[in-house]
Amino acid sequence: MNNLIKPATLAMLLLTLGALSLIFLWRSHGDVSIGRRLTENHCGVCHDISPEKKNQKGPFLWGIVNRPVGAAQGYRYSQAFMKHVQEHPFIWTEENLDTFLANPQQFIPNVRMSEHRVEHQISFDGIEDATNRHDLITYLKRLQ
Ligand code: HEC
Repeated sequence: MNNLIKPATLAMLLLTLGALSLIFLWRSHGDVSIGRRLTENHCGVCHDISPEKKNQKGPFLWGIVNRPVGAAQGYRYSQAFMKHVQEHPFIWTEENLDTFLANPQQFIPNVRMSEHRVEHQISFDGIEDATNRHDLITYLKRLQ
């Protein structure tokens, strides 16, 4: 009896493992449609994400992945931002975006994105959930 059950149990186990690793692979690629909704909801209030490259409260985000920091033509970055990036120039790699979006204020001190002002209530303090950030960045990569 035992000998009959074992191969079936083993097969079930293997199937479950297979399914789990497929789900893992799929998730590790990021979900573009969730990323798009997150981007529209979290970033769209301040940033243009269209190919028209319009500067709004924030600089346009078209082509942001692998773009040098502070390179949106015609956008007036804050003094704190310019000072920081002149001292530490970098590229918006997926990794840098991930660290920045987790806590913008910590990545670039006094960044205007996280500024709380009475006359302008909207501010962005970061996205805590790593999977959400991953999905969001997966979508940002499409903006080119
Ligand atoms: C409250 C408005 C606001 C929200 C919401 C916001 N940002 Fe920003 N963002 C800004 C501002 C303003 C700046 C310019 C910062 C400065 O000059 O100090 C900026 C700068 C940036 C930069 C630097 C761009 C460059 O040219 O180097 C990136 C990247 C960025 N934001 C991404 C995002 C993403 C992605 C989201 C959504 C998850 C988001 N921002 C949400 C206002 C916002």
